[in-house]
Amino acid sequence: MSGQEEISARRPRVFSGSQPSGTLHLGNYLGAIRNYVAMQETHDCIYCVVDLHAITVRQVRADLRRNTIDVANAYLAAGVDPERSIVFIQSHVPAHTELMWILNTITYMGELRRMTQFKDKTAGAEGESIGVGLFDYPVLMAADILLYRADAVPVGEDQKQHVELTRDVAERFNHAFGKAFVVPDPIIRTEGGRVMSLDDPAKKMSKSAGSENSYIALMDAPDVIRRKIRRAVTDSGTEVRGGPEKPALTNLLDIYSILSGATIGEIERRYEGKGYADFKADLAEVVVEALAPIQTRIRELEADKSYTLEVLKTGAERAEAIAERTLAKVRERVGLVPRP
Ligand code: TRP
Repeated sequence: MSGQEEISARRPRVFSGSQPSGTLHLGNYLGAIRNYVAMQETHDCIYCVVDLHAITVRQVRADLRRNTIDVANAYLAAGVDPERSIVFIQSHVPAHTELMWILNTITYMGELRRMTQFKDKTAGAEGESIGVGLFDYPVLMAADILLYRADAVPVGEDQKQHVELTRDVAERFNHAFGKAFVVPDPIIRTEGGRVMSLDDPAKKMSKSAGSENSYIALMDAPDVIRRKIRRAVTDSGTEVRGGPEKPALTNLLDIYSILSGATIGEIERRYEGKGYADFKADLAEVVVEALAPIQTRIRELEADKSYTLEVLKTGAERAEAIAERTLAKVRERVGLVPRP
């Protein structure tokens, strides 16, 4: 443990979270989880399953439970190492909601109303039936990040605005009450950050939008993966060559490139004189091979549930120790009487 602490003292700290709100897919893996794994080489990492964020949209109880464990299993199966990184479930550390309350008192209605995600999620339904949680969602996210004094927050482009709000709120608190928070920098994913739908390259790959064929689930069987890639829409033309006028093919090239390590140019050269069908058949094998070891490990974790639960228990304890230190300082700064 003292070794761990030495590492925390030297390496910049990263905090990130994923919502357990549905079936995990290739976009989640390429966009987020793969980066989580890579960042362990350079950062001290804390990865959270943000179940309290997920319930801002109505969830089915059994699905929420299952999805929460699934996200933790996906982290572990992909290579997040619980010896090096902290992995835990947000609702296991009550400090998150407590800090959220305190931050609520210094966050402005106007700031939250301007959040693009809030505007998107509530478009056409302003007013009466919008849950307060949806409005307050970015403040809970700020609490997540600030509790751990994270230096950096890896997120997709769509979450950048929330990290900027976190910075504003942290600075406002530090200025008004005295320094308690580290002001974090967003790390915006570029590579893999925008894996698009297989049936509509204008939309992000997602489990909620479009049909089953629009995404590759992390646990899809090889034949299902092959079929989905075969059926993926392509652009007019026959040549395997990406570009802005060929968004569907470019998306497939991106996936191929990230998973194989070859550059887009190398892949285009490899398929000169060949058609889409050859390219798609090979891409399917690249995806099948990349997911195979992760799927095997997930099945092992599902067979012995106690391992993941133990990781989450230890993770919550380690997270709480850090979070409580920050929270104690915040309470003191604000003027709350310490519990005798
Ligand atoms: N809002 C993020 C998303 O939907 C998830 C999230 C919650 C998060 N808390 C966080 C991400 C803290 C980074 C840091 O993707």
